[in-house]
Amino acid sequence: MPVPATSKPLSRRGRPPRLPSSTRSLWIASTRYPRFPRLRGDLEVDVAIIGAGITGLTAATLLKAAGKTVAVLEAQRVAEGVTGYTTAHLTEVVDASLRTLISHFGEDGARDALAASRASLDRIAAFVQERGIECGFHRLPGFYFAETEDGLEDVQKEYEAAERLGMKAVLTEDVPLPFPVAAAVRFEDQARFHVRQYLLPLLLAIPGGGSHVFEDTRALDVEDGSPCQVKAEGGVVTAREVLLATHVPLNKLFLQTKLAHFRSYVLACRIDGPVPDGLFWDTADPYHYLRGQEVEDETLLVVGGEDHKTGQEEDTEARFRALLEYAAARFPVRAVRYRWSAQVVEPVDGLPFLGRNSLSAHVYVGTGYSGTGMTFGTLAAMVTSDLILGRDNRWARLFDATRVKPRAAARQFVSENVDFPAHFLADRLKKAEADSLRELAVGQGKLVEVEGKKVAAYRDEDGTLHALDPVCTHMRCLVEFNDAEKSWDCPCHGSRFDTDGKVLNGPAVKDLGIIEQGGAASHPLEPPLAPRE
Ligand SMILES: Cc1cc2nc3c(=O)[nH]c(=O)nc-3n(C[C@H](O)[C@H](O)[C@H](O)COP(=O)(O)OP(=O)(O)OC[C@H]3O[C@@H](n4cnc5c(N)ncnc54)[C@H](O)[C@@H]3O)c2cc1C
Ligand code: FES
Repeated sequence: MPVPATSKPLSRRGRPPRLPSSTRSLWIASTRYPRFPRLRGDLEVDVAIIGAGITGLTAATLLKAAGKTVAVLEAQRVAEGVTGYTTAHLTEVVDASLRTLISHFGEDGARDALAASRASLDRIAAFVQERGIECGFHRLPGFYFAETEDGLEDVQKEYEAAERLGMKAVLTEDVPLPFPVAAAVRFEDQARFHVRQYLLPLLLAIPGGGSHVFEDTRALDVEDGSPCQVKAEGGVVTAREVLLATHVPLNKLFLQTKLAHFRSYVLACRIDGPVPDGLFWDTADPYHYLRGQEVEDETLLVVGGEDHKTGQEEDTEARFRALLEYAAARFPVRAVRYRWSAQVVEPVDGLPFLGRNSLSAHVYVGTGYSGTGMTFGTLAAMVTSDLILGRDNRWARLFDATRVKPRAAARQFVSENVDFPAHFLADRLKKAEADSLRELAVGQGKLVEVEGKKVAAYRDEDGTLHALDPVCTHMRCLVEFNDAEKSWDCPCHGSRFDTDGKVLNGPAVKDLGIIEQGGAASHPLEPPLAPRE
């Protein structure tokens, strides 16, 4: 075992630079995408795909290549969901520790999970090569590192597990970072790319020959059957099969109980000196992750971390400040060019849920990718498209969306999913954060008590008040204000709404009710509706 480094915290190098005033993702800011039409009228295709992130667009590409007609329905803009707010490390290693994988799925299961992850990385590499995609894809090593002796045991155990599983990994002190590191596991042959540069050529090849891409077209309801019907804004799509590629599934119950929702924060910084060429993630909890990305004529350092459960952090701006302090203590940060945050969906047993949706014959789903959704989103597309095409897929069983891991899941189930019933009841007993709308400053959002009822109130930069029914339209938890993103976030299953109540992230498909001046919405106190899967 290498000699431990000191556990003394690093001190800041001078004053850290300022954060940009608003959030904007590097990937979206550095690419231009065309607009796609809204759905207008009814339509019939072989496969309806709901959601145009890496999952939906990869599935559409694979299915069209196999001769199927597809309709991709995107509620907002293509590749601007979580895929537009990622950090795009491409790793064979998944977020759950190797030891967790072994304990939940056995050594053979863990080996298969890593092989699947490797196959999806190779699938991305093959698309890049076959289609000549310029997206900066390149192979490089990944380092799981302990900064101090506190993380040494973790690193040592991960290394031992990697050896048992036959991975190309070594234990090393030689880590190309400009600050002291106690030890790391070095994984060979990982990769990185610019995800929106990668997806654009795939996307442009989807429309035509009976296939379509629609934007600003939210799917409102999915009826399983022969055929299925997707009721969407603008029309009904009839399809033999449907793929829910919505990141968080639209289900009300079964899958939701096996998922937990976290926000993660990212900065893209200009630094003095070279940006290390590797993928790096540490043993801290929540962990930090680092990589470089070329933008125009410079390479930016992309730093992520400071995760917390969605809707359970009052001061989200503080998370960005903490991340900047972390970066500035370790790198000579000259400026922060971009900052953004988005949601990560954690599965209860460490692996995503892919395949036929529960209680469905023709509806498929891909979700629970955690922080490795570039590879797992691609894997979801590979597995579900094979199932739709009636082909065997060697990983379909391992990732089966209807699986229950009784022991592993049960323990975690209690800690993660206690959120729904607990929030549902506690929210209703909770005191409002302010007694009067007059207490709201410009740029502030709070739950305010108005005539004995709670109102989600936000005062915009012009001083105008936006008052909403705070009851989430998914399953009726109360939303919380997110001050960094100026959104209302639901702590139960991660739905998010803008300050006018419009859905930003599902599973909710309906906007929050607007409260007109002089009236307050009624807040039913009855238990949640019997969910329709
Ligand atoms: C900060 C951060 C860093 C990350 N870093 C990495 C990383 O380094 N490596 C990695 O592999 N993964 C990473 N991830 C995870 C990865 O980015 C995601 O798992 C992945 O992008 C999810 O892709 P998706 O296609 O499933 O979802 P999305 O990209 O969110 O696409 C889903 C789409 O469905 C649409 N939609 C939702 N509801 C409806 C509806 N009712 N009707 C129509 N459309 C709908 C949404 O608008 C959205 O566009 C990171 C995630 C975050 C938040
Ligand atoms: S997201 Fe499910 S209740 Fe809000």
